[in-house]
Amino acid sequence: MNYNKKSIEDIDVSGKRVLCRCDFNVPTKNGVITSDKRIVAAMPTIRYLVEHNAKVILCSHMGKPKGEYKSELSLKVVADRLSQLLGKEVVMASDVAGEDAKAKAAALNDGDVMLLENTRFEKGETKNDPALSKALASMADIFVNDAFGTAHRAHASTAGVADYLPAVSGFLVQKEVSIMGKALADPERPFVAILGGAKVSDKLNVINNLLEKVDTLIIGGGMAYTFQAAKGCTVGKSLLDESKIDYCKEMMAKAEAKGVKLLLPVDVVVADSFPSPIDGPIAVSTVNADAIPDDKEGLDIGEKTCALFADAVKNAKTVVWNGPMGVFENPTLAKGTIAMAQALADSDAVTIVGGGDSAAACEQLGFADKITHISTGGGASLEFLEGLELPGIACLEDK
Ligand code: 3PG
Repeated sequence: MNYNKKSIEDIDVSGKRVLCRCDFNVPTKNGVITSDKRIVAAMPTIRYLVEHNAKVILCSHMGKPKGEYKSELSLKVVADRLSQLLGKEVVMASDVAGEDAKAKAAALNDGDVMLLENTRFEKGETKNDPALSKALASMADIFVNDAFGTAHRAHASTAGVADYLPAVSGFLVQKEVSIMGKALADPERPFVAILGGAKVSDKLNVINNLLEKVDTLIIGGGMAYTFQAAKGCTVGKSLLDESKIDYCKEMMAKAEAKGVKLLLPVDVVVADSFPSPIDGPIAVSTVNADAIPDDKEGLDIGEKTCALFADAVKNAKTVVWNGPMGVFENPTLAKGTIAMAQALADSDAVTIVGGGDSAAACEQLGFADKITHISTGGGASLEFLEGLELPGIACLEDK
């Protein structure tokens, strides 16, 4: 895929109506935003557009309203936060591309900012319906995609609209693509990738693609048990995807053939069962990874494994990490994930953390500023690591 896309700096936005797709899919609790990270990440693009006298029409989805208006998923709360961050009013439309949005877009002056309602209130959004794409495009002269977190979705507001307007990237998309693109295409070596998370099946193609690129692949988290089983080890009651055992064997053979070091846990933290509630107290012990007792479930990597994995990171020049090492929602089972976050924070390498749980772990631990890049994309960063073409980026104009 060609990542060399035009950006807002390659196009004259002054006096133009600019439809800017952001990923404002932020977590909320009782109507209050609990992390505004994604809004803050979009600010450089929004400020640039305002400072360059564009008439700015922002849009995003939030949650999965499935084509219906849901008051709890209104973007009004985002408009309020944007107004605070920008220090100026952000006009809120009451619909996505209906009468109100069109009237408010037409009334914008240079440097004004408005926000459309949640694009997924429209049924056509996730179907990439050309009627919705056209309606969105009719309000603007230029399309800017700055929604990296949603770039893996071919929806009307992320990709379809680019069929009807000149389409360029915003600064966030540009930054995500250039940092992760360089890591994959031309990494400083040794290049180490760390994959965790519950299921092997979520990361099949990521493993396959990364084995083409890395010097060392570290596998931890729930997905490691299927690899252990493929090696003939007993995994007790740990997460196991029997249908993927052959796949794991294939990947181990591929690693060997390519000279890639594949590191698996050597010890694991086990308990009688999965914690319930997930963050509740739990009695644990540590056992060798190749002999988990039948009545035990592996829930985190052990201390020896933490040291082994941290050592591989220490010698790396590029590190990519996606997915937790254990049930990190539980303080007793978060130690492996914390150790990985610490290893990346201590490293002088280019360190890149894919979104979701591993990004949350780095942020909660206060390590965010010690990591080169924490992606705003969960699914999007994973598909990027898979080497897939992201529709929200493919639709933009080449340089
Ligand atoms: C995300 O949170 O990963 C993005 O906003 C995409 O959301 P989606 O998985 O609902 O498409």
